[in-house]
Amino acid sequence: MHYDFDRVVSRAGNLAAKYDERVKNFGTDQVIPLWIADMDFPTAQPIIDAVKRRAEEGIWGYTSRPQSYFEAVCGWQARRHNWSPDPALCSHALGVVPALAALVRLFAAPSDKILIQPPVYPEFAEIIEYQSRQVLMNHLIERGPGKWEIDWEDFEQKLQEAKLFILCSPHNPLGIVWSREDLTRMMELCLKHHVPVISDEIHADLVFRGTHIPTASLSPEIAANTITCISGTKTFNLAGLHASTTVFPNRELKTCFDDFWASFDIHRNNAFSVVAMEAAFREGDEWLDQLLAYLDGNLHFVKSYLDAHIPEIKTFLPDATYLMWLDCRAMEMSQEALVDFMIHRAGLGLSNGKGFDPSLTGFLRLNVACPRSVLEQAMEQLNTAMAAWRRSK
Ligand SMILES: Cc1ncc(COP(=O)(O)O)c(C=O)c1O
Repeated sequence: MHYDFDRVVSRAGNLAAKYDERVKNFGTDQVIPLWIADMDFPTAQPIIDAVKRRAEEGIWGYTSRPQSYFEAVCGWQARRHNWSPDPALCSHALGVVPALAALVRLFAAPSDKILIQPPVYPEFAEIIEYQSRQVLMNHLIERGPGKWEIDWEDFEQKLQEAKLFILCSPHNPLGIVWSREDLTRMMELCLKHHVPVISDEIHADLVFRGTHIPTASLSPEIAANTITCISGTKTFNLAGLHASTTVFPNRELKTCFDDFWASFDIHRNNAFSVVAMEAAFREGDEWLDQLLAYLDGNLHFVKSYLDAHIPEIKTFLPDATYLMWLDCRAMEMSQEALVDFMIHRAGLGLSNGKGFDPSLTGFLRLNVACPRSVLEQAMEQLNTAMAAWRRSK
């Protein structure tokens, strides 16, 4: 079937955080929301049908998880990523972030240091701090426009103090699809320094250039040192259903994780996520392939528009994710002034780059997962605001 990603669906007033939390986040609802990482597109029809069938039953009591559930999750990994995790070593979680928080709590002691690579998804640092563990930063280095690379010397040095490493693969917000060479080098250094790896692969299906390589598929030794977090929520726009899968290298670690959640009586999917995820992983390919083509068109549109009309804001095509990293340093504004400009002059609700790396100034993140006409409107508003700003200088 053909999906129409150009269709604008009104989400305002529909409890969509992206829209209904604008006042809380930006102080006004007069912004086009291009921040939190979900999409303004309805999901794949087989998922909608499966959830509708379940909804129409009208009875949503305690729900069991059939064996076929993790088989569907693992079948997708095998089909799309050439990796065959063992369904018996998979565990349910209410999301990747809750899983990360539990893993940090279980496998690092209070005040242990956990390595991350900023600029990176802000929740990594947040959950580490919430759990009273310490954040250790291996800053990615900007080598040229859109070229961010690992500082290897610093990476190895920090590993000597680290208890765990949280890898973002593909990387949010830089859209990096890690090469086999980089991944292997990172993982071998982790093995050398006895640092277990949590590989957050939530963006694995949203790849436009290159090939995502699941960390645990690199070698049996690396698999034995890796816990992987995967999910269909980012891929199929199902974040509101709260379900993810954690893949363990052995039963011992899995049991530790399962017992932790069992102590809160959290061990089941909700009635809707169980059918939605199975439908997604069994029947979602057609929708996803069309989505990827559309999203890549959006990425190209924003890049071309900024290159042609707004030279002060530089960006690059990410290899993965529907998120674009905007370099606004040429505007020479403080971060507060930049954020204020985007909200009050341009009418755009973007993610503040400071959240991804407190040491950076002048960066913002833009989510392109919306109909192209919305992005066109956003770019026109930005262009008008920039013209006024240039005149006022
Ligand atoms: C790297 C990364 N991990 C996890 C999440 C969120 O995961 P969940 O909604 O399953 O908690 C996001 C959302 O943007 C993300 O970018």
